[in-house]
Formats: sequence, C-alpha cells, structure tokens
Amino acid sequence: MQKICIIGLGYIGLPTAAVFARAGYDVVGVDVNEKVVELLNKGEIIIEETGLPEVVKEAVESGKLRASLEPEAADAFIIAVPTPVHEDHSANVDYVVSAAQKIVPHVKKGDVVIVESTIPPRTIDDIVAPIFREAGFDPEQDIHLAHCPERVLPGRILIELVENARIVGGLTPAAAQKAADVYRRVVTGDILVTEAVTAEMSKLMENTFRDVNIALANELAKICAELGVDAHKVIELANRHPRVNLHQPGPGVGGHCLAVDPYFIVEKAPAAAQMIKLSRDINNSMPDYVIDQIIRMTSDIERPSVALFGLTYKGNIDDVRESPAIEIVEKMIENPRFNVRVHDPHVRTEQVSFPLSSFEEAVESAHLVVILADHNEFKSLDVSKLTNSMARPVIFDTKNCTGLESGSSLTVHKIGDLRGL
Ligand SMILES: NC(=O)c1ccc[n+]([C@@H]2O[C@H](COP(=O)([O-])OP(=O)(O)OC[C@H]3O[C@@H](n4cnc5c(N)ncnc54)[C@H](O)[C@@H]3O)[C@@H](O)[C@H]2O)c1
Repeated sequence: MQKICIIGLGYIGLPTAAVFARAGYDVVGVDVNEKVVELLNKGEIIIEETGLPEVVKEAVESGKLRASLEPEAADAFIIAVPTPVHEDHSANVDYVVSAAQKIVPHVKKGDVVIVESTIPPRTIDDIVAPIFREAGFDPEQDIHLAHCPERVLPGRILIELVENARIVGGLTPAAAQKAADVYRRVVTGDILVTEAVTAEMSKLMENTFRDVNIALANELAKICAELGVDAHKVIELANRHPRVNLHQPGPGVGGHCLAVDPYFIVEKAPAAAQMIKLSRDINNSMPDYVIDQIIRMTSDIERPSVALFGLTYKGNIDDVRESPAIEIVEKMIENPRFNVRVHDPHVRTEQVSFPLSSFEEAVESAHLVVILADHNEFKSLDVSKLTNSMARPVIFDTKNCTGLESGSSLTVHKIGDLRGL
C-alpha cells in the first residue's frame, strides 16, 4: 500500500494527510474549498493547530503531500468531511454521501475505504455500503469498507493522531484488518479492531458519556441552589470516593462534538435513548438558567449594566461553535432591560454578530460581571480593577474558575453555589 486519498482537509483531514505523508505514504488531499487546495499546494494552511504549519510545509516540499479539487486513484481513501446536525437535531450526512459518491469512480477492487467523520450508528452499513453496491461493487467482497472515528483534542492533534488508541470498525472482519494496516504505519497507540456499527456507537458514547455526566452536575447545581447547599463542596467530597467522578456544572455544553454527537444516537433509537435525550435537554436549559440568575442578581436595578466575559465553549480557544455563551449573550442583548457589554480576549469581531468591548470598557460602571468561559485571563482577574471600575462589584462565575470568594469589597456568586443570593 503506497497511496492514500483523503477527502476533506479540515481540522481532522489535514493533520491526518500530513502525518501519513510524513510516514512515507504518497498522499493526495481533496477539498471542495479552492482556497484550501491552492494554499496547500504552496505548503500553506488556513486552520490553526500547534505544529501543523511545519509538518505540512515539510510534507509538501518532500513531494509526499499535494492537494486537488478532485479525487484520484489510490490504495486507500479516507473521508473526513463535516457531519453537522440539522435544525431539528437530526444528523446531516450529506457531506459523507457526496464524498463517497465522488470517490466511487476512482475506487478499484481491493481498495480500502475509511470514514473518519463522526457518523450515526449503521451509517456504514445502511448508507455508505449501498453507494458502492449501486456502483456495481460488492461492498463486502470487492472493497474494504471501515469506520475509524477520531478522538483528538484540538491543540494536541499531531500528538494524539499518533499516540491515541484507535478504533477500527470494518463492514467485514477482513475490512477491519485491512483498514487497521493503513494506520499501523503511523499510530503508536493500540489499534482496536471491531465491526463498523460498534465503532460508530463507541465514538458517540465517548462524547455522550461526558454530556450525560455534565447534565448530572448541572442538575446537582440546580438542586443545590434550591436547598441552599454548595454543589462544589458536594462534588469535592463525593469525588473522594474511589469510584466516583462527578463532573463540574457550567453554563451549558458547546462545541461541534459534545453538543452534537448524542443526537445521532437519539435519532436512531428515540424510545430507548431517554437519559441521553434528557441530558441534552438539561444542558440546553443552562443558558436560560444563567439568565434567570442574572435577572435575580440585578432585580433591584432599573437598567443594569452587565459585562459578559467569554464566548467560547471552553477555555483558551477561539472556537464559538454551538457555544452556550453565544446564546446567553444574544438573549441578553435582545432583553431591553439590560445594558450589555461583551468581552473575550480570544474571539475576533468578525466571528460574532455583536460588538465586542475591551476589558476596561466592559467593566466600566457595570453592576455585574458574568464569567462564561474559563480562559486563563479570567482565572487571574485583578480584583482592584473590578472594584475600582464597577458600579456594584458583583461577579457571577458560571465556570467556577476565578478562585474568587465573596468578601467586603466583592460579592461572588457561582453556578452550584448561590447561597448568597
Ligand atoms: N475537529 C475535531 O476535533 C474532531 C474530533 C473528532 C471527530 N471529528 C469529526 O471529524 C469530521 C471532520 O471534522 P473537521 O473538524 O475536520 O471538519 P472541518 O469543517 O474542519 O473540515 C472539513 C473539510 O471538508 C471539506 N469538505 C466538505 N465537503 C466536502 C466534499 N464533499 N469533498 C471534499 N471536501 C469536502 C470542507 O471544505 C472542509 O475543509 C466530522 O465528522 C467531525 O465531527 C472532529
């Protein structure tokens, strides 16, 4: 096996292409975005990822990696295109379908075809295999079709692509083995071979596990608010049990994985997936819960000025996709009762549809600062800068990240500890 064709050159496909090229494969990366293709052929990239510019440049200069708008013949094909959800939360597998249809004319008997995109259970069996059957292939005999989900962490993609354990699920046992062989040249982590549907479910359950556990923590936070208990102390103490690992409450769940993948399971088994659906609903309720607490915290002020800090779905990144903070900001701006200012040192103006303020502008005469992302900048806030500028120095820390406690000069409320409210 020498040549690999990778469809989709985003956060997953591009590092994958570069790592395979570095390992000696001839790699052609395919994307529908002309700019991505044009830049890659010059050794340049548009996405941000630690170490990636150097690895890509080297791979392109060595002649092992190039880009094209069209697929071409290869020994293995890897599909890494987006799988978002529709408005009604059903999975949109259109990109996967179109990528598979695009490679069909270039696939020959004996080739390996791998879908790395996160997909609903049975997508390989019920959607991808039939595309090849309609094109005249026997997908169980003529080609080796597999799902190999990706579980990398942005910022560590180049390391985790190589070191993480990989699940390789084949349409047939032979397909799983052939697909595993493709990864063996680059992956140092364990390669775990199984059926396609089991690989699909495993990937989805990894993120669902986290979503459900965050929902449990959020429910705990609401219960503690009703009962006058500090949820953070409860979590700290309960987690001293050797087999308990309660997660942390927060303003909701965002990003293109945790907030999306559980819906792929709910869609396929709506009657059975009760807890998964409820967990999504609980996490989706958190932005409104945050706003309700903001209303309570400012109920005595006619037109309160509220500074909202942090827009991303997790700390120290610039990604605002599916971020609960965006929903909170948009609803707060719509509410005529509030004078809202928004500050995030990691987010650029063109990423959002509302104005951003500097730290100083945001806190000036504010009655409340609400922390919505755990950026390092917010973990080390200068309290004197707040108390000197704010009209009423009150913080609502929804990420429990500031380390600040209520004192004579500052009042601090937290999701999970609203005893002072
Ligand atoms: N980014 C992550 O951290 C991560 C982690 C695990 C799994 N995943 C999954 O990996 C898949 C890809 O995610 P991503 O973050 O790389 O997406 P992305 O949006 O960064 O990149 C996808 C690329 O595919 C291209 N594309 C779309 N349709 C195409 C087509 N028909 N032919 C060729 N190119 C096409 C787009 O132009 C884009 O460049 C998704 O299913 C995602 O859920 C992502």
